[in-house]
Amino acid sequence: SHNIRIAPSILSADFARLGEEVRAIDEAGCDWVHVDVMDGHFVPNITIGPAVVKALRPHSAKPFDVHLMISPVDQFLEDFADAGADIISFHPEAGAHPHRTVQTIKSLGKMAGLVLNPATPLSALDYLIDDLDLILVMSVNPGFGGQSFIDTQLRKIEAIRKRIDETGKDIRLEADGGIDLTTAPKAIAAGADTLVAGTATFRGGPEQYAANISGLRGE
Ligand code: DX5
Ligand code: ZN
Repeated sequence: SHNIRIAPSILSADFARLGEEVRAIDEAGCDWVHVDVMDGHFVPNITIGPAVVKALRPHSAKPFDVHLMISPVDQFLEDFADAGADIISFHPEAGAHPHRTVQTIKSLGKMAGLVLNPATPLSALDYLIDDLDLILVMSVNPGFGGQSFIDTQLRKIEAIRKRIDETGKDIRLEADGGIDLTTAPKAIAAGADTLVAGTATFRGGPEQYAANISGLRGE
């Protein structure tokens, strides 16, 4: 579908050529650039920080969808905003005051996203949903690319789709983890409108990116 946004996770890109990789997915027709930030504490892996986001910024005009897997999170929001993030998403477990974190992201002029881990209950959205621009459902446990989609998260996506529709607001619903040609249609049918895909975007090398992205869109 043309309404489905594809956000390649650069976690699966060639880190030695990240600028070129971001250009390549931009030219291949991605909608957003998904940046996975990991701190080795909140999740068992370490990736990149604001300096790399800033260095990549000139390589694409598309929105940078920055997924923060760091704790505590609040002290780094401004750095990522200044580095060029457009959407900043965080996990409610990554700070004591998720409502404050949402307000801080919005005060920086950025879109705010809340990320639900596979075992995080829907109640994490209570009293917050109306202020969110994005809800990100983790369909794997965060930390690594290349993991298998957890099917129970389809029910969560369905339930969140209902809650979003009840708000009447324009809140994006993004699925992240294990998205491929088999699971993408399931996530879309459940109500996701944005798909993160690392492995499935970057497989086969740059000459395959455009076909990989349109395949995930269901084209
Ligand atoms: C996991 C990250 C995902 C991951 C997706 O912690 O949030 O964005 O890189 O990778 P694939 O698409 O390979 O499952
Ligand atoms: Zn992610």
